[in-house]
Amino acid sequence: MRHIQKVWAQRTLAEYRSACLTAELQHWLLVIAVSPDTLDVCHRIVMDEVAHAELSREAFLAAGGDPAALPLARDTLFLPHDVEAPLEYRALSVAADVFCCGETVAVPLFLALREDATEAPAIEALDRIVRDEATHRAFGWTLLDELLERLPDGVVWLQQRAPEFVRRIADAYDGYGSTTVDQGPEWGLMPPVRYGEITRQCIDEVIRPRFAKRGVTV
Ligand SMILES: [Fe+2]
Ligand SMILES: [Fe+2]
Repeated sequence: MRHIQKVWAQRTLAEYRSACLTAELQHWLLVIAVSPDTLDVCHRIVMDEVAHAELSREAFLAAGGDPAALPLARDTLFLPHDVEAPLEYRALSVAADVFCCGETVAVPLFLALREDATEAPAIEALDRIVRDEATHRAFGWTLLDELLERLPDGVVWLQQRAPEFVRRIADAYDGYGSTTVDQGPEWGLMPPVRYGEITRQCIDEVIRPRFAKRGVTV
């Protein structure tokens, strides 16, 4: 498979996985009865991620990808966080990990990927993703605050976990990206050094200060 196809295949599966994980979180949030506004945004995010997956799949096909090469690993489509804990704490972990780390870093990363893209299917997918990611980021921090208000020991819970979430996201994007010859900014691809730079900058300038404001050192 060409590198461009591989990247868009990975993106398709990652976006679909985001839809599944957010839908599972939404059910937890219904069970623990968070605010209707929070539920409403969570519900919208599920369908945003389905749209991202669909647009990424179209980019993958436009790049010559074979639809049979998009196998979903079903066991990765469930939230693995703190399975023994009450749902409030599980949701707190997911907010911190998937949204306050994952979606917060996604904002500058996708903006950078969009900047040099010139191929129409890539532009269409990246434009939609860029448009939605800021809302997804905001949802994470709002949900975190709503849960912290309810959980007297929530800050202690986060202090035991959030540093690892931040470390994981830094590692995930360190060396991530395309190094092969057919790497193509026109298709929304970026070299590993840029992934690393943008991620580190986002952690230093956005993620760390926002956790610190809530009493959590990461
Ligand atoms: Fe997405
Ligand atoms: Fe997202």
